[in-house]
Amino acid sequence: MTILLATDFDVQALGLWRSLLQAALPEEHIVTERHTLVAADADVAIVANPPPGTLQGLTQLRLIQSLWAGVDRLLADASVPPTVPIARMVDPSMSATMSETALWAVLSLHRGFQTYAAQQRVKVWQPLPQRRADEVAIAILGLGELGRCVARCLGAQGYRVSGWSLRPAALPSITTHHGDDALTGVLGAADIVINLLPLTPHTRGLFCARRLDAMRPGASLVNLARGGHVVDADLLAALDSGHLHHAVLDVFNAEPLPAEHRYWQHPKVTVLPHAAAQTDPRSAAEIAAANVRRLRAGEALQNLVDRARGY
Ligand code: NAP
Ligand code: GLV
Repeated sequence: MTILLATDFDVQALGLWRSLLQAALPEEHIVTERHTLVAADADVAIVANPPPGTLQGLTQLRLIQSLWAGVDRLLADASVPPTVPIARMVDPSMSATMSETALWAVLSLHRGFQTYAAQQRVKVWQPLPQRRADEVAIAILGLGELGRCVARCLGAQGYRVSGWSLRPAALPSITTHHGDDALTGVLGAADIVINLLPLTPHTRGLFCARRLDAMRPGASLVNLARGGHVVDADLLAALDSGHLHHAVLDVFNAEPLPAEHRYWQHPKVTVLPHAAAQTDPRSAAEIAAANVRRLRAGEALQNLVDRARGY
């Protein structure tokens, strides 16, 4: 059988992925051109944001392996066969990278490094009051593969960390909460809120005026998950009014962030180009290949998405 590798990668990146996957799966026939397949050819699709409709008509598919951790775009494509198992990328190296980004954002906000960068531009010499890490309360929304790793990393740095998930969770040294009723309290108790939720019908637009209002005055938002979690106009209003101190945004409703968007120039916004934790082909190709080998051996697939839950 054949594996379809369907992505939005440029030619160079696609070539790298193909050669890594082929090296990990020497027995497999891997194709990258959908139009060269007849429908019955492929029983596995390895995907990274394929153009909508790419998987339509592949009647023999038995596994869709995403190279991305978040599968919101895949699930939004109505042409993805509804009963084929979808596995997403779970890679310890991605979790470690996400923890680096979260730590950088938290340190920058806690110690005022964004403020010092702004002061440098206007030649202001003004040290800020200094707080200890254990005086800074961090809330992590989403305690999955990434949220848990970030929670451990920030906890180890001495921050006061709490987390919020859908179902009850237990994590050493982290205060955990779950369910909608707990969210207002979680938001109101944090100096820095880090978003690591999947984008689902339930979490879309979560950072609306009401939720942003529930955040502590002077608190900051770090969005490392999806742009669709944030109502941009409401976040800009919360920053403009002075209610929120700063937003570190890695993800946006439209990507790349349009040149005219206010976030680019906003003094209280730090923009990253969806680079908080990129999939690393060196580890991720092997993780994807391992799931293909499990399929071939009739073993249980790993990192399966619960389509009903949406993540
Ligand atoms: P995950 O393992 O599936 O974890 C998701 C977490 O969110 C779980 O703790 C889950 O709760 C919680 N959750 C889901 N719906 C919820 C709800 N309605 N209310 C409260 N909690 C809810 O996901 P992950 O691997 O950590 O990744 C999280 C997201 O990060 C991805 O979906 C993707 O969008 C984003 N991401 C971004 C980048 C980047 O570079 N910016 C890179 C990778 C991933 P339960 O534990 O109770 O299930
Ligand atoms: C990146 O955003 C991912 O979901 O892997």
